[in-house]
Amino acid sequence: MRPVYLTGFMASGKSSVGPLLARRLGRPYIDLDRIIIEKAGLSIPEVFAQFGEQRFRELESEALRETGAQEAVVALGGGALAQPNNLAFAREKGVVVYLDASVDAILERLQQGDPDRPMLRGADGRPLTRKALRDRIRTLLESRVPYYEQAHFRVETTGKSVAAVVDEVVRRLALGLPQAEAEPS
Ligand code: S3P
Repeated sequence: MRPVYLTGFMASGKSSVGPLLARRLGRPYIDLDRIIIEKAGLSIPEVFAQFGEQRFRELESEALRETGAQEAVVALGGGALAQPNNLAFAREKGVVVYLDASVDAILERLQQGDPDRPMLRGADGRPLTRKALRDRIRTLLESRVPYYEQAHFRVETTGKSVAAVVDEVVRRLALGLPQAEAEPS
């Protein structure tokens, strides 16, 4: 069985859907950011602050490589597949599921949950105003959608409960992949 990779923008629901989906499928759950945190002994904002985004991306790519043979549900960071090699790797080794969400839904969820994401801070590291945050989300999302859209399938999460999203992912996984995609080469 191949890993199931959950991709999508920050706050698209990957880490809410992931554990429930894993339980439904009887598989372990892996959060890619958690691998980085444990290896570095630092939080994600600390990795960005001390080593910069480039180093974070290297650690993220290494962590992804470790998951290729695991029969797990893996929640990826929102930028993990925005590197061509990572996208090709995830598609080849696993089933890639894109959790889609509107800019408004992302904004709402970010403001309810943990807002401490380095990619959504100002150049000085300070929180952005609501308007600047919306602009940042829109621009970053636009740059990432071309990668997300290469997932094996997309599930809309806007306006849906976590349970409803899990149901839909399970249903789509049960339908299987087109034959050409079914076996990794
Ligand atoms: C990032 C998303 C974050 C985390 C890091 C960078 C991104 O993960 O990997 O802050 O570039 O989109 P989530 O998508 O789980 O928030």
